[in-house]
Amino acid sequence: MAKRLLQLLALLTTLMAFVQCCPELCSCQDKFAHQFADCAYKDLLVVPVGLPSNVTTVSLSANKIKILKSKSFINITQVTSLWLAHNDIVTIETDTLAPLIQLRNLDISYNKIVNFPWDDLRNLTALQLLKMNNNEMVNLPKDAFSTLKDLRSLRINNNKFTAIVQDTFVALTSMSHLQIFNNPFTCSCSLEWLRDWIATTKISVPEPNLIVCEAPEHLRGTLVTQMPKLDCKAPTVLISSQPNIGDTELGEGVMVILNCETTGSPMPQVTWEVIAGNENHVFPVPSTGEANDVPVNDKTTNTRFHIFRNATLIIPYMSKREDGNYSCSAVNDLGKAESGVRVALTGLTGVP
Ligand SMILES: *[C@@H]1O[C@H](CO)[C@@H](O)[C@H](O)[C@H]1NC(C)=O
Ligand SMILES: *[C@@H]1O[C@H](CO)[C@@H](O)[C@H](O)[C@H]1NC(C)=O
Ligand SMILES: *[C@@H]1O[C@H](CO)[C@@H](O)[C@H](O)[C@H]1NC(C)=O
Ligand SMILES: *[C@@H]1O[C@H](CO)[C@@H](O)[C@H](O)[C@H]1NC(C)=O
Ligand SMILES: *[C@@H]1O[C@H](CO)[C@@H](O)[C@H](O)[C@H]1NC(C)=O
Repeated sequence: MAKRLLQLLALLTTLMAFVQCCPELCSCQDKFAHQFADCAYKDLLVVPVGLPSNVTTVSLSANKIKILKSKSFINITQVTSLWLAHNDIVTIETDTLAPLIQLRNLDISYNKIVNFPWDDLRNLTALQLLKMNNNEMVNLPKDAFSTLKDLRSLRINNNKFTAIVQDTFVALTSMSHLQIFNNPFTCSCSLEWLRDWIATTKISVPEPNLIVCEAPEHLRGTLVTQMPKLDCKAPTVLISSQPNIGDTELGEGVMVILNCETTGSPMPQVTWEVIAGNENHVFPVPSTGEANDVPVNDKTTNTRFHIFRNATLIIPYMSKREDGNYSCSAVNDLGKAESGVRVALTGLTGVP
């Protein structure tokens, strides 16, 4: 009797599997209240259409998928596990993953992803496991994981990340496992936090011997955990002028010298920005080369503003067109400082 019942159940299950559509090449199973679509190892080039709408686990591993189109998963929003490892994925279109708000496990490791649609992750607040390792990703936005409160394990190892911004992992309050090794880290001031964080965090950060500096040259091969303490100072900017703007009348034809004095370590990148009339000029000051008497911007194309390697800006002939705002900014790993002065032609009232 029990045997007959089991047979009947088996038959019913088979029938249901038939009723429930399943893409060709995939096999769909319904067991333990989980609907599983197995489409692994099938040489698929795209995500198949017609996956059962209540499918909870989809395996597309080890296929030849190159692109994930934005509508690929709109009909299967019950999915809790999505396996996409070992494909040839280069592109994931924006909004492809965002509908999968039940997703707990996502594996997109071993692909060729360069630009991941980080905004999609915001929606995946149920994620517990995220494997993105062995791709070609370069940029990791600071707030990439800011909504993933349930994430336990994150793997971003074996990518091309050169930097991880401080506090990138701060919102991940459930995280216990983090793989970041085998990335070409630039061990500059902005990465010093990582050295200290690895030493103190309770999160397991495996393979510390593979978390290595790729740049700068003199630290190449150094373990991030052994990176020396660097001399790091946020930039400062101070503008001085001759004649002293504020207590001198600037008549037409006067020569105005604006010096931009900066500090900071590493040495900041300095830029002058001029807003005069309806024009906006940006003059980056080269950080290499000897300071000399030759302006770095070509005199023949810009006779109105001369920029020197020592960050001095000279207005050789003050006129109404040079009346405007002059600001100097300094940027290094630790931030940006900016200062500006108004250079006004005496007797000029109102804006032309
Ligand atoms: C999925 O849908 C099919 C048919 O609509 C149903 O028989 C099956 O029980 C459902 N599975 C789950 C896990 O809800
Ligand atoms: C989603 O469902 C609609 C309506 O059934 C169908 O036309 C469409 O092809 C499906 N899309 C995918 C990607 O399965
Ligand atoms: C993100 O999730 C919300 C619900 O939390 C949903 O309404 C929205 O459509 C999702 N975004 C996308 C692009 O699917
Ligand atoms: C920078 O160099 C220019 C050209 O040699 C010179 O006129 C200017 O006084 C220098 N500025 C400072 C702050 O030394
Ligand atoms: C210069 O800055 C002042 C104050 O910040 C502003 O009121 C003025 O419009 C600016 N002038 C130009 C030409 O941008």
